[in-house]
Amino acid sequence: MKNKGRKLKISIIGLGFVGLSLAVTNAKKGFKTIGVDIDKNKIENLKIGIPPFYEPKLQKFLDDSLKTGSIKFMTDLKNALLNSDLSFLCVGTPPAKNEKIDLRYIKSATKKIHEILKLKEKYHLLVIKSTVAPETTKKVIIPVFRDLIDKGSLDIVTNPEFLREGTAINDLLHPHLIVIGEYEKKAGNHLERYYKQFYDTLPETIHTDTTSAELIKYANNTFLATKISFINSLANICQNLSGTDINTIAKAIGKDPRIGPLFLQAGPGFGGSCLPKDLSALINFSNKFEKTNGLFKAVVSVNQNQPIKILKLLNNFKFLKKTKTISILGLAFKKDTDDIRAAVSIEITKLLLKKNLKIKVYDPMAMDNFRKLFKEKIVYCSSIDECLKDSDCCFVLTEWDSFKKLKPEKFKKLMRTPNVIDARRILDPKKFSDVNFKAVGLGN
Ligand code: UGA
Repeated sequence: MKNKGRKLKISIIGLGFVGLSLAVTNAKKGFKTIGVDIDKNKIENLKIGIPPFYEPKLQKFLDDSLKTGSIKFMTDLKNALLNSDLSFLCVGTPPAKNEKIDLRYIKSATKKIHEILKLKEKYHLLVIKSTVAPETTKKVIIPVFRDLIDKGSLDIVTNPEFLREGTAINDLLHPHLIVIGEYEKKAGNHLERYYKQFYDTLPETIHTDTTSAELIKYANNTFLATKISFINSLANICQNLSGTDINTIAKAIGKDPRIGPLFLQAGPGFGGSCLPKDLSALINFSNKFEKTNGLFKAVVSVNQNQPIKILKLLNNFKFLKKTKTISILGLAFKKDTDDIRAAVSIEITKLLLKKNLKIKVYDPMAMDNFRKLFKEKIVYCSSIDECLKDSDCCFVLTEWDSFKKLKPEKFKKLMRTPNVIDARRILDPKKFSDVNFKAVGLGN
């Protein structure tokens, strides 16, 4: 094997979803890793092996790394920077009120990092992982560090991340692509050196300028969102056409290699902390260029209407005249996460509450997060059975594996009236023919 040189020491600044997944994966790969965050409580918990969110494999990677001592957690940014060669900046870029992104954390972190790196003699590489609007690296971040870049003691590269919640660690171990945004080849090559140490075989890597790298990240998520709104638009047509099924249509068009089968699963609309936020940010960013974002606005509009379309399926059942009980199975924005950010379950619960319905909910992971939001307005159940008991209609809103196994008998046995709305298409309509069954994209 080629000599890949001394293993670089890594610091990760900002231990949110991307930062923490990255930190434990680096540590597990044998890099001396320091995770740093301003949240003292989070750091104290991480030191004793308690992660702030659920993600498959995260706990195991964290436990293993703490045991071997390859990971350290601290709030001391100076210590972290002076004792590492390369830092990933992973601070949050939440949506701002005007649909731009909030650069507050980027600005305060870069200012502090600059103050510390001024004191450092050895070369340092700062890698921007946070999702930022095009030109942020060039116009907001690089100017802060201009003196150090000119002196040759620092380089900055933009290196967007494509990892998905629920499969983050696998995505880090097996990425489909690495994108390196650089202002000169030397800067990008430094990052490539790290990736050559991380991977036995370097994954496909595209070198580009920093602005294109930022735009690639938005383009990726916007394209995925577009596919979902496209299939949901067709699903809504299918709902009006007897005998049709969106799943068959998605399967057929997905066979065309120019289209592809992924992200054509009709459902209640996309949620999560990334697709909705990045789409809005791109729309906002491109507002300054005439007539460039009509398509993206349509994608948002379809998505905003999708919970209403799902709710309208209720009209097929006759029971709504009196106060009734509704069960919601699935609160997380997708399976294998406890994340409810921009989850469709929130919108649907709000709309149902307006109709004066009693709401019972169950999710294998996201109950605590949902409770913080709706408090005593709804009923929290500790099992599927408890949630279905004496209910008049059940919405399936998340595609958890445990829900996929549900049999019609359970709904018939437990519910007062077995009305079922499958917003995720995880139940087989043929098997559910003797309950009142409606599903997204399924013709009458
Ligand atoms: C998304 C991207 O997939 C990642 O590549 C990206 O790195 C990440 O955002 C990010 O920017 O950090 P994630 O938010 O974890 O990842 O979730 P997705 O798997 O993209 O799902 C987003 C939403 O679309 C979910 O609500 C999901 O249920 C929905 N979806 C997905 C559908 O309704 N239909 C589909 O066919 C696929």
